[in-house]
Amino acid sequence: PPAATLDVPPRRNLATAPFLVATRGGRPSRLPVWFMRQAGRSLPEYRALRADTGMLEACLTPDLVCEITLQPVRRHGVDAAILFSDIVVPLAAAGVGVDIVPGTGPVVAHPVRTAADVARLPVLHPEQVAPVTEAIGLLLPELGQTPLIGFAGAPFTLASYLVEGGPSRHHERTKALMRSAPEAWHALLAGLAELTLTFLRAQVAAGVDAVQLFDSWAGALSERDYREYVLPHSAAVLHGIADAGVPRIHFGVGTGELLGAMAEAGADVIGVDWRVPLHVAARRTGGTHPVQGNLDPAVLFADQASIDADVRRIADEGRRAPGHVFNLGHGVLPQTDPDALTRVVELVHSLRV
Ligand code: CP3
Repeated sequence: PPAATLDVPPRRNLATAPFLVATRGGRPSRLPVWFMRQAGRSLPEYRALRADTGMLEACLTPDLVCEITLQPVRRHGVDAAILFSDIVVPLAAAGVGVDIVPGTGPVVAHPVRTAADVARLPVLHPEQVAPVTEAIGLLLPELGQTPLIGFAGAPFTLASYLVEGGPSRHHERTKALMRSAPEAWHALLAGLAELTLTFLRAQVAAGVDAVQLFDSWAGALSERDYREYVLPHSAAVLHGIADAGVPRIHFGVGTGELLGAMAEAGADVIGVDWRVPLHVAARRTGGTHPVQGNLDPAVLFADQASIDADVRRIADEGRRAPGHVFNLGHGVLPQTDPDALTRVVELVHSLRV
């Protein structure tokens, strides 16, 4: 179970780091930018380093995590690093049989379908993620004034992988379980919330400067189902980390109809995909939350003038929100030309805040 108090190490002096200023709704010296999945297959230096190492093995090897996390910071000059890891790392660390299959994603050996399956799920002990906290310790001195973002998968998105047994288009077994066996469902999500909270608290205690909760597949739900079956458990995670004082970013894909509920769950910054303009997203969350987003990752395959036009439009829309961290609307696609990403960073940094 999560420790009662957080033993947060002294932070580097990042008071003026544009990313952290923007997440607090202040006026940064420049518009900050980073990219979800910035560390990964779009970078040849990543592919070279990963050539002989499985994904989960890499995530649990501190010097590899450190080097891969630094690669996009060096190459693109982004305003934040995100820890190289995966949402299933804490599940694997706790002893759940899960693998990350190239080109597919997480695959679970024994899917969770019944109350008995739920009861067998292990608890995560912080020492089981020691390779991750060790990697954070290696990263902090290397990063200088660049903030480090820690992250975890939200209970619903983790549950979808566990129940379906792998990636799913329609999440039909997951949606059936929440309705047909609500007690088992809530026990599953409560357990995953505790695991997620333990993982995030371990990252904060090791020194990350912000956290992002990825509820990537929450957009598959109606607002009604989100509020009944998911929100209380994501709220347990976000409220459980509030005392750490680091900004909490809450992100999902296709969540235009859920943005208000996701803000209510207890986020400081709302991640927005490309479907909703940033100023509209800000209105839907009460006009109080800074936003993060929201260039369509597929637009990076268009001609330069088109990419630049979208970047400028998004910066304009972000100026109408109570704070803006530039990002994509979802992760970098593996075939993306890394030079297109570097060019986005240069352009974003040249724009007025
Ligand atoms: O953003 C970053 O640079 C940090 C790295 C990161 C990874 N996974 C590395 C990764 C982050 C933040 C994640 C989170 C993650 N993992 C999410 C939430 C974010 C999102 O994209 O919605 C989800 C849903 C997963 C589950 C997962 N893991 C998928 C869907 C995949 C892709 C499968 C594939 O091969 O196409 C993975 C594997 C994965 N995670 C890779 C990377 C770099 C690719 C594995 C490889 O390089 O061999």
